Amino acid sequence: MIKKEKAKPGDSFTFPRTGHVTRNRTVLAAMTNKQSHKDGSISDQEIRWLNRRAEGGFGIVTTAAANVSEDGQGWEGEIGLYHDRHIENFRKLVSLVHDNGGLIFAQLFHGGMRSPESLTGKIPISASKIPCKDSSSGFTRPASLSDINRIIQDFTLAAERCVKAGFDGVEIHGAHGYLITQFLGIKTNTRKDEWGGDITGRSKFLIEIYRSIKGFVPEHFIIGARISPEISDIGIILDDSMRLAKILSDEYIDFLHLSCWDIYKTSKHYPEDSKTLTEWFTTNITNLPTVISSGKIWTCKDAKNILKQGADLAAVARVGIPYPDWPNNLWDKDYSPQPGPFTVKQLKEADLGDVFIDYMRNWKGFVEDGR
Ligand SMILES: Cc1cc2nc3c(=O)[nH]c(=O)nc-3n(C[C@H](O)[C@H](O)[C@H](O)COP(=O)(O)O)c2cc1C
Repeated sequence: MIKKEKAKPGDSFTFPRTGHVTRNRTVLAAMTNKQSHKDGSISDQEIRWLNRRAEGGFGIVTTAAANVSEDGQGWEGEIGLYHDRHIENFRKLVSLVHDNGGLIFAQLFHGGMRSPESLTGKIPISASKIPCKDSSSGFTRPASLSDINRIIQDFTLAAERCVKAGFDGVEIHGAHGYLITQFLGIKTNTRKDEWGGDITGRSKFLIEIYRSIKGFVPEHFIIGARISPEISDIGIILDDSMRLAKILSDEYIDFLHLSCWDIYKTSKHYPEDSKTLTEWFTTNITNLPTVISSGKIWTCKDAKNILKQGADLAAVARVGIPYPDWPNNLWDKDYSPQPGPFTVKQLKEADLGDVFIDYMRNWKGFVEDGR
């Protein structure tokens, strides 16, 4: 068995509990690309985009965030997993990725206060009543106990659909400010009941989703969670995130994905400490599950660095867009692909459709004729 500090990006990895083997340490992180059909089914274009990354050698391919409830949709062109009709097209995707040697996870989410009423026809739900520009009332509606139970059930049904479609696992999206994060945050969750309070109460929603999924899926199915170590405006603080990681570890979750946005970043709360966000977790929690970490990994050196920080797997988003064969180049320790901006032609050649290219124009400096 390879020791963490000795692992190289090209080494295979075995998930300890389920025995799934990834051919290397690379993960394509979830990337919304707005290419799905109106009814939430994944389109051939989006299948092509994801499968091309499996052809390019990614060990694990993650889908874009998929809404588990109709009222959890965050934007147009989002993939859905709230209905059985979504299973069929996902089956095609899964089978292609498997044929090309990759594992595939679906990312499950509910937008909460970020599910605009103009899209869902419903006042956005959140942990508590908070100001919300996407609500006609100007505020979110605090989730009732029956909302909470329904949404936990929706996550579970979505995971069951993933089992039926042949996915290897799911990533529960508890990062970046969507409904689960809104429950986790001290600023967005001011509930006085068992779903609020300290981090044990605020993480109950995520833990119950995990437990409910676990109770329904087969033993070999991988379940993980993505979390943000710190988010100021929601009130996600490092100490709580580490406590949450410990809670998830004690639940025997299969993986924890730390979304750092920059793997070299240190904590805002401990500016005098030189540990990176990932190192806070990998050096302080002894029984961590498999750790995935992500944020500004671009070169082979970056991928090696995150493994050295104690992560088992290196997840990338942006570099995987123009460079679908990124993992297959990591044998070269000096691999350092050109940064953007990229031309429309380059992106089309990398199997991005027009809608996705247009979306990428909003990401500063990414598309030549974009922002
Ligand atoms: C176009 C685009 C769409 C994204 N969509 C998602 C998403 O659906 N779910 C998610 O958890 N993160 C999403 N992210 C964040 C990425 O997964 C990743 O955490 C972030 O881009 C930092 O990694 P990078 O520096 O390798 O791009 C998205 C990022 C990009 C660039």
